[in-house]
Amino acid sequence: MRFAFGKNWQSYSANALTARRIEQARRAFGELLTGIDLQQKRFVDIGFGQGLSLVVAAEMGADVLGIDIDADNLEALKTTQQAMGCDKPLRTRIASILDDEFAQSDRGGFDIVHSWGVLHHTGNMHKAIENACTLVADGGYFVCSIYNAHWSSPIWKVIKWSYNKLPRPGRQIAVGLFYPVIFIAKWLVTGRNPRKKDRGMDFLHDVVDWVGGYPYEYAGCEEIRDFVCQLGFDCLKIRPAQVPTGCNEFVFRKTLASAEPAD
Ligand SMILES: C[S@@+](CC[C@H](N)C(=O)[O-])C[C@H]1O[C@@H](n2cnc3c(N)ncnc32)[C@H](O)[C@@H]1O
Repeated sequence: MRFAFGKNWQSYSANALTARRIEQARRAFGELLTGIDLQQKRFVDIGFGQGLSLVVAAEMGADVLGIDIDADNLEALKTTQQAMGCDKPLRTRIASILDDEFAQSDRGGFDIVHSWGVLHHTGNMHKAIENACTLVADGGYFVCSIYNAHWSSPIWKVIKWSYNKLPRPGRQIAVGLFYPVIFIAKWLVTGRNPRKKDRGMDFLHDVVDWVGGYPYEYAGCEEIRDFVCQLGFDCLKIRPAQVPTGCNEFVFRKTLASAEPAD
């Protein structure tokens, strides 16, 4: 059972993507990847969704590949690319990051592997992280965000699972019920208007994603840091989520392979 992310992103790109949101997305991407040179670097965005990060990386001079499991995101990406006035060719592939053949055939093939809000939606988060890390070249970067673990996370898992079991009218009612609850909870926790979003997102489309986004896994900052570091990475940056069940952001660097020992 899988939430139709692509349909939600199609709606976002067609109806909610504004010039202000595009600027926000450019700024947020630049801030997270501060100090990482993208010029002519091999960049893969795993789970490109609406395509904002993929297009921004291309604008910054990277040689980009986007992969996503949901073919509906191709149309969302096209709309986003047009809205951003980007005419660079963007390579895409409809595939799952859980596909070992893909991970092994492109092993070490990317200077930057980026995956924002994706690996916890695959149904096997740890394997997805391992496969994403396999794609990183020695000395390259792994940039990701993963849902934080909180006491309410198991409840959210049930909500998301139930949403995907409902017929379409039931889903619309669920979104209508959760919209004010999430709105008030976010305002109380952050002290700011939840409609004022970061990363170019839109509150209504985010609510649909939060209520429906299944499969769903989560982990604390330390768990993710330790798991990725034992795969041969150094942790350069952690930006904790702004709300308890939000996404923690991470920047890792793969340690350079040690030189062959002399005979
Ligand atoms: C919450 S959206 C994030 C989109 C985008 N990365 C962003 O920052 O807004 C999650 C995306 O992950 C994709 N996805 C889910 N499972 C996947 C998998 N196994 N392999 C590749 N992409 C996957 C979904 O189709 C969806 O586009």
